[in-house]
Amino acid sequence: MHVATVDPPPPRLADPAADANATEEYYEKLVSPDIVNGISNVVDYLDARHGIRIKDLESMPQRTLDTIWWPFVQHGTVKGSEDVSIIDSAYGDFFSVARPRQNDTPTSSLVFPELDSSASWWTQTLGHANPTLTMAAARASGRYGHVMFPQASHLPALRLAERLIQKGPGKGWASRAFFSDNGSTGMEVAIKMALRAFSLRNNVDEKEKKKLGILGLKGSYHGDTIGAMDACEETVYTCEWHEAKGYWFEPPTVDFVNGKVVINVPASASGKAHTSVAKSLSWVYDVEDRLHTPLARAYAQYVRRALDKIEATGQKIGALIIEPLILGAGGMVFVDPLFQRVLVDVVRGRRSGKSKEWSGMPVIFDEVFVGLNRIGIESAGPILGVNPDISVNAKVLTGGLIPLSVTLASKSIFNAFLSDKKSEALLHGHSYTAHPIGCEVANETLKQIDKLAQSEDWMEAKRKWTVAQGQEGEEQSKVWSLWDPHFVSEVSKLPQVKRSMSLGTVLAIEFEDSAAGKLSPVRVFALD
Ligand SMILES: Cc1ncc(COP(=O)(O)O)c(C=O)c1O
Repeated sequence: MHVATVDPPPPRLADPAADANATEEYYEKLVSPDIVNGISNVVDYLDARHGIRIKDLESMPQRTLDTIWWPFVQHGTVKGSEDVSIIDSAYGDFFSVARPRQNDTPTSSLVFPELDSSASWWTQTLGHANPTLTMAAARASGRYGHVMFPQASHLPALRLAERLIQKGPGKGWASRAFFSDNGSTGMEVAIKMALRAFSLRNNVDEKEKKKLGILGLKGSYHGDTIGAMDACEETVYTCEWHEAKGYWFEPPTVDFVNGKVVINVPASASGKAHTSVAKSLSWVYDVEDRLHTPLARAYAQYVRRALDKIEATGQKIGALIIEPLILGAGGMVFVDPLFQRVLVDVVRGRRSGKSKEWSGMPVIFDEVFVGLNRIGIESAGPILGVNPDISVNAKVLTGGLIPLSVTLASKSIFNAFLSDKKSEALLHGHSYTAHPIGCEVANETLKQIDKLAQSEDWMEAKRKWTVAQGQEGEEQSKVWSLWDPHFVSEVSKLPQVKRSMSLGTVLAIEFEDSAAGKLSPVRVFALD
C-alpha cells in the first residue's frame, strides 16, 4: 500500500499559550517514526514511478520506430528519434509533448505544450480530455459496454438518431439514421444506399450495376476504405485496387486575396479562367440571390455539357457526392457554393425513371469534415438551399473522444431496401455498430455544442463578421468565423500569402509556394 495519511491540524484555540501547545503536540506526533516512515515510503514510491515514467518517455521514440507503422508517413524519410513526437497527454487545445532535456538539472521540464493546430485531424471539438464527454463515456460503459444492434435499441442510439433527424442536419428531409464506425465507413454505407436506390429506380442491369460511377469534385476525399476511394480520382493516396469510378468537376473557389473576397472560376467552367471580386463574403454565400446571375448560367452549362459527354460515352453515373462548401483533406479548398447548388439542381433536373418523389440521381453530402458546426453551421443544406438524399457525419459527432459515424437517409432511399425479402435489405454492419459509448458521447457533444452556439463568444464573433461585411443593422451574416475578420482579410495581403479563408473554426492560409493537400508542409489548417 503506497498510502500515508496525517491527521488534520487541531482547531485554533482562543488562549494563545494553549494554542501553541496544541500545535506543538500536533507537529511532535507528525514526526513519529510511523508517520515519517509512511511518508517516506510514499515519496520513494512516487520517485520510483517518476523514474519509470521518465525512462518510458526517453525510450519511446526508438521503441516506436521499432514497432509502429504510421499512417501517411514515409518511414524511409524519418531520420531518427528526433522525428518522433511523444504525446505524454493532451488537454484543451494542446498536446503535452515530451522532448529531450535541454540540460541535466533535474527541475528542467521534459514535457512542453504544443498547439494541436489541426484539432487532431478535425476531430477535437470541446478540447482534449473534456470532463463531460469522459463522464458520458464512463456512464455508457458502466451501463452497457457494447451491445449488438440488429432489431435492438438502446437510449443513447435512439436519442442520437432522433436528435440528428428531428433537430440536426437531417431536419426536414431525413427519416432514418444508420450507424457505422468512422467517416470512411459512413461513406461506404452512403454509396451502397445511393447506388441501390439509383439501380432500382432506373432498372439498371446486373452488368451496368458493377460499373456505376460517381459524380463529384476534383480534390474530394471521402476516406481510405476502398469504396470511398473509388468515389475519388486516382492520387498518391489511393491503391493498386483503386478504380476511379466517375467524373470530377474542377471546382470554382472562394478566397481572400489581397484583402478582397474573390471567386476563382477555372477555364473548364466558363471557357477562360478568371477571378472576379465579390461584393462581400456574405453575398457569395447568398446562393438564392446569385442563382439568377450569368455565372450561375455558365455553371449550369458547364455541368450539362459534362453530363452530356459522359452519357455519350455510355458511362452511367449513380450518385452525386459533394463535400459541401469545403474540400478539407483536398487542401482546404473553399468551393463557390453557387457551383455546388447549380450542380445539385442540374443533376436533379435531369429526367430518369417515372417517380414523382425524385429525379436525376441520389445526392450525398459528405459532411464528415464540415458538419455539426465545424464551419459555424450544423449542415450546409440551408446555405446551399438544397437538402441531400443521404448525408454523413463523423469527426465532431463524438467530440474527438471515440470514433462513430451516422449516415442519414431520406424515406425514399430507405424504401429502396424495403421488401419482404431479406436479400433486399441493407445487409451491412460492423461489430461495433451504434456502440452505446459512442452514442452517449455524441449526445453529450451535441448538447455542449448547442450551449456553445448560444454563448456570448459565438454571438460576438457573428456580430464582428456581420459588421465586417457592411451588414450592420441588417440580418446577421450567414457565414462567420471564430477567427477575427480583420485578421483573415489582412493576412491575405502579406507578400508570402497566396490566399486566406475562414469559416467557423477553420482558418486556411496558403503560402505562395505551397503544394496541394495533405502532402504540403506549408499550408496551414488551424482550429480556434
Ligand atoms: C470529408 C471527409 N470524408 C470522409 C473522411 C474519412 O473519415 P475517417 O478518417 O473518419 O474515416 C474524411 C477524413 O478526413 C473527410 O474529411
